[in-house]
Amino acid sequence: MNEEERFVQSTKNLTDAEIENSLRPTSLDDYIGQTKVKEALSVYIQAAKSRKESLDHVLLYGPPGLGKTTLSHIIANELGSQFKVTSGPAIEHAADLAAILTNLNQNDVLFIDEIHRLNKTVEEILYPAMEDFALDFIVGKGPSARNMRLKIKPFTLIGATTRAGMLTNPLRDRFGVICRLELYSADELKIIIKRSARILGINIDDDASGEIAKRSRGTPRIANRLLKSVRDYAQVHGEGHVNKAIADKTLQVMEIDDLGLDTIDRKILLTMINKFGGGPVGLDTLAATISEDATTIEDVYEPYLLQLGFVSRTPRGRIVLEGAYKHFGMEYVAK
Ligand SMILES: Nc1ncnc2c1ncn2[C@@H]1O[C@H](COP(=O)(O)OP(=O)(O)O)[C@@H](O)[C@H]1O
Ligand SMILES: [Mg+2]
Repeated sequence: MNEEERFVQSTKNLTDAEIENSLRPTSLDDYIGQTKVKEALSVYIQAAKSRKESLDHVLLYGPPGLGKTTLSHIIANELGSQFKVTSGPAIEHAADLAAILTNLNQNDVLFIDEIHRLNKTVEEILYPAMEDFALDFIVGKGPSARNMRLKIKPFTLIGATTRAGMLTNPLRDRFGVICRLELYSADELKIIIKRSARILGINIDDDASGEIAKRSRGTPRIANRLLKSVRDYAQVHGEGHVNKAIADKTLQVMEIDDLGLDTIDRKILLTMINKFGGGPVGLDTLAATISEDATTIEDVYEPYLLQLGFVSRTPRGRIVLEGAYKHFGMEYVAK
């Protein structure tokens, strides 16, 4: 189950995708938080524009829902460039990628989502494309085979991935700009929620926005989803106006606790505590015990648990820290 599915399972329909798109900021100024990343990108973008050159290739990494796709759109907007989108799993054959690359115009932005999922032969096409703006082919067979090089127009590749460590070294080395997106603070999420409420025409009290922000696991996508659920609840059970009581009630019904932990977060922590004595426990063992995918645990759930200081990674496996015990009102015995 990925992060998009785990949340209000049945609401992922076209309207939801449309809403998500309508909530995407379109300029760096409207993009809340990620100050360091924004400052760096803004400098590189201005420099590239003044030289009338393509921007260096950009790698964006971080947990799902933090704004990688949104930021990619913004970079293209700020450059005044065309934006082309594809994804690692969508490109099956080297020829598919070669076709995409030869069709790019000067200084276009090509966005490859989930870039760590490119297969090897496809990935190898990217190396000369990124480095020399060229495609290398072998023409003919046997002794008469020869290399051919085809120039393509200078372009900017933006790759997005949940973890930079999943990229091969030769691919990672070809990105000039590598940006890690961080979880958002509750204050930043509150600004995002208020902005989204304004766009969606939702009437929400300040303290209700603050409450949703605190319980959004540092993630804008979750903040926006919670806002929509709270709005729906307010329409059915109230007069459509979202106050703190309605927000609290909705989150309670969704089994999201005061720190934003949901049933799966609690299952992860309580399994580690009750079945593995607080750890250390290996990721794969944990994943098998709770029937979750190890990558999902690592990419979707763990970043927030690490930030809360509830778990820690050690060479021998994951351990649960004192804060988590306290959160559950359990006694912590130091090891
Ligand atoms: N910095 C931000 N400011 C405002 N909204 C944001 C920000 N980052 C993400 N969002 C919102 O969160 C949602 C998910 O962002 P997205 O770019 O799809 O995340 P990712 O590609 O990293 O999974 C989008 O609807 C977007 O509107
Ligand atoms: Mg995305």
